[in-house]
Amino acid sequence: MNDDGFTKVAPLSRFKDRRGERFLIDDVDVAVYKIDDKFYSISNICPHQHAAIIHNGFIENGSVVCPAHGWEFDIVTGKVKSGVGGLNVYETKIIDGFLFVKVYKKELNW
Ligand code: FES
Repeated sequence: MNDDGFTKVAPLSRFKDRRGERFLIDDVDVAVYKIDDKFYSISNICPHQHAAIIHNGFIENGSVVCPAHGWEFDIVTGKVKSGVGGLNVYETKIIDGFLFVKVYKKELNW
């Protein structure tokens, strides 16, 4: 982790559009999506059944959809579309062709 709290995660070439990648960053389970050349980092743990599968989701109308039972989470805010709670989201930045993510260990929103 850098002094600013960001961790170097992976080269940008690793990411395919709208396909999730999973990373463990400082013990935080994270899903990263690239959508139209922007990067979104979000908790990988679905609050429905506490399953680590958000990286296997699909992107639809600005949401990531859990592949198990279809809960939808706003990719920017992490909020669940129909209900309360949601997923933690994490800041990203790009330096010299690498993605950096800043995780935090706030309690999960369920
Ligand atoms: S585990 Fe994600 S919707 Fe059920």
